[in-house]
Amino acid sequence: MEQGKQLTGTLAVAVFTAVLGSLQYGYSLGVINAPQKVIERHYGRSLGIWSERSAVLSENSTEEDEQMDVGKHPAVVMYWSLSVAIFSIGGMLSSFLVGFVGDLKGRIKGMLMINVLAIAAGLLMGLCRMWKPHFMVIFGRAVMGFYCGLSSGLVPMYIGEIAPKAYRGALGTLHQLAVVTGILISQVLGLDFVLGNDDMWPVLLGLSGAPAVLQSVLLFFCPESPRYLYILRNQEQEAKKILLRLKGAYDPSADLEEMRKEKEESDREARVSILSLIRSSVYRQQLLVALMMHLSQQLSGINAIFYYSTSIFSQAGVAEPVYATIGVGAINTVFTLVSVALVDRAGRRTLTLVGLGGMCCCAVAMTVGLKLQSDLPWMSYVSMAAIFLFVSFFEVGPGPIPWFIVAELFSQGPRPAAIALAGCCNWTSNFIIGMTFPYIQGLLGVYVFVLFAALLFGFTVFTYFRVPETKGKTFKEIAAIFQKGRKEGVKDAVELQQLKSSTDA
Ligand code: GLC
Repeated sequence: MEQGKQLTGTLAVAVFTAVLGSLQYGYSLGVINAPQKVIERHYGRSLGIWSERSAVLSENSTEEDEQMDVGKHPAVVMYWSLSVAIFSIGGMLSSFLVGFVGDLKGRIKGMLMINVLAIAAGLLMGLCRMWKPHFMVIFGRAVMGFYCGLSSGLVPMYIGEIAPKAYRGALGTLHQLAVVTGILISQVLGLDFVLGNDDMWPVLLGLSGAPAVLQSVLLFFCPESPRYLYILRNQEQEAKKILLRLKGAYDPSADLEEMRKEKEESDREARVSILSLIRSSVYRQQLLVALMMHLSQQLSGINAIFYYSTSIFSQAGVAEPVYATIGVGAINTVFTLVSVALVDRAGRRTLTLVGLGGMCCCAVAMTVGLKLQSDLPWMSYVSMAAIFLFVSFFEVGPGPIPWFIVAELFSQGPRPAAIALAGCCNWTSNFIIGMTFPYIQGLLGVYVFVLFAALLFGFTVFTYFRVPETKGKTFKEIAAIFQKGRKEGVKDAVELQQLKSSTDA
């Protein structure tokens, strides 16, 4: 194996430790779905609706009737919707702070500090029976969302900065692999005979804080990002030592030289704030690509499947939709593994194109299946297959790639601000889809996925024309691709100077 290309134990421990934060994000995304009825009933009880309603219900009514009734009570609906949605609101707000937290004391201390939030959130939810469960859960979910907004930016940033160039894609994809594993674990633990029942649901929610405990211990064994140390803190010797730990015995001079150049540039361009990144025309192309990739991830409709799969599967005629949902989680994980294997060979651009194009075709097939299944029962298999394939195509490219490509598209100066903006775009569009999908579905009926097909088509065309390949390139080479497209070198230099003086001031 070529020198400096081996995967060392230190690198493996560092990546594993970092992605525990992603696992937590996935778990929190998925955990709220399965136990919905059980938790609603609990809310009903603590709001005093349960007993009041049960008294009114006829004597022959079954437990399910009562449960349905409680779930429809406006107060329960409100507290439940808030428990779900507040998570994304927390994420939307905190994603803006990723750059600040990452730069404050470094990536490692940043991840360590925010674990306090995750553990506090886990305790609030796990102990929710001690006070008013609906308040405790809502508060806990808000804090957990705040944590996840930060960790979903810090983890890809740290991995992108420590990964050897040849494995940057595969290691970057491990963030998404941990997210989908978290979703799958939460789906399995959420089954009613495991933890998704009346007695155990607070434990199910509380467990979302557990990976943070393990991560806090392991972070003490992880090296700081050498790029952070050298480029931001000017600690060249320390950075060199860490490079040797991360990459084994090799000659680090090429890596150090690359960082030195980036440092020179970064000293010239200074830290770029979120506002100046939005205003600057120098980074406009990169920013457009980064935001569009995050938009295409969310507006593909993937979370419509994740949040509402049970009702979509019932509509497609599945008898036990909960198991089909777990099937989706499993397929999701398998295809993320496929992406880990392919991304540094096939490249980001190709996998994104294949993924988005494939999802577009699946969305059309899903619509045809749903539309025709009342006349042709076998069509329900078409819709089912289309759902599984839709998720598979997502994980091949549009799922994992946006998360790590932003760190590749920007140099050290604007990187934290770009990650913050892209993260906020991701969380906001996720929130919008989560909130509006039921209404859009009500409006468009079986044609709801035509909307996503149209969006997916647009994103595929955009990717084809505007997204460059970043596989195997240094950060400098990637920046050069975007600069080549611009013929405004002098103007850029003036603008960079202005950016620097405005930041210095
Ligand atoms: C990505 C998305 C997330 C989605 C998940 C599904 O991580 O950001 O919103 O739920 O993939 O696998």
